[in-house]
Amino acid sequence: MKQFLTLNDLPDFDAQVALAQHIKANPYEFEQVGKRKTLGLLFFNPSLRTRLSTQKAARLLGMDVMVMNFSNEAWAIEYEDATIMEGLRSEHIKEAAQVVSQYCDVVGIRAFATLTDKEKDESEQVLQKFIEYASVPILNMESATAHPLQALADALTLTEHDLPKKPKVVLTWAPHPKALPHAVGNSFTRMMQHLDADFVIANPQGYDLDPRITKDIPITHNQNEALKDADFVYAKNWSSYESYGQILRTDNEWMLTPEKMALTHNAMFMHCLPIRRNVVVADGVLDHPNSIVIEQANNRTFAAAAVLKTLIS
Ligand code: CP
Repeated sequence: MKQFLTLNDLPDFDAQVALAQHIKANPYEFEQVGKRKTLGLLFFNPSLRTRLSTQKAARLLGMDVMVMNFSNEAWAIEYEDATIMEGLRSEHIKEAAQVVSQYCDVVGIRAFATLTDKEKDESEQVLQKFIEYASVPILNMESATAHPLQALADALTLTEHDLPKKPKVVLTWAPHPKALPHAVGNSFTRMMQHLDADFVIANPQGYDLDPRITKDIPITHNQNEALKDADFVYAKNWSSYESYGQILRTDNEWMLTPEKMALTHNAMFMHCLPIRRNVVVADGVLDHPNSIVIEQANNRTFAAAAVLKTLIS
């Protein structure tokens, strides 16, 4: 595996989940694998889980780690070719990517969607420009369109809850005051295509995800109908894809409440975090014993360790 941009880059999805499971059970088994190798983590956007779990994952493999916040610590980067750099951008990606490659063996990048320019977001300019000029593998720590480390951790979490039958898994849109990207919803949807589950997406009219990703997965605009008999409920907000980056509704009708969870088959509640209490989900759902959001965050370490091991092996 030369890069990890989406789940499609994994040579074998099931083997990667199994490796993450193995590292969780034997966290120090591979502590020599990354000896004398360095992971550079470049953040263009904020993070708690990805920033800490990816560092922890690297250290489980014996790697050194360097972290940089590009939003306030680095020179602003120019990505366009043949530009006259007389504006605010002081460093061109051509030099930046080559320089960082000399210090690191793998470079992780977090660069969110702008949500103003669909074409630019879908081109994944930041990641693709680093790939063009870097000489080391690039690790996606959430880009404009994908959050594959989160999805791999979610796959690990789902497989740890060994249910007696093909589970019903619902990805439901939930309210949020800000326009959020589609990356988590996209990657969770891609990931579910690898699992043997009855998978349904529920979202209001106008919020369907990219049809190239949802393919033939059932999409309903009736949340209560989707929740009926669900074994897992994954809540997430995203802005409209069709009316790109727009917030089309501001009511709380789709907030996950104990009453809605009562429609399910005693479902586990999932979310990638961070989550806005009593906006996305009611306290009574998030604080319920069936909420496995903390497990999901814990599994980020082992998913990242599995991917890093595959990248450096
Ligand atoms: N779920 C997730 O990626 O969390 P952070 O944004 O805190 O890294």
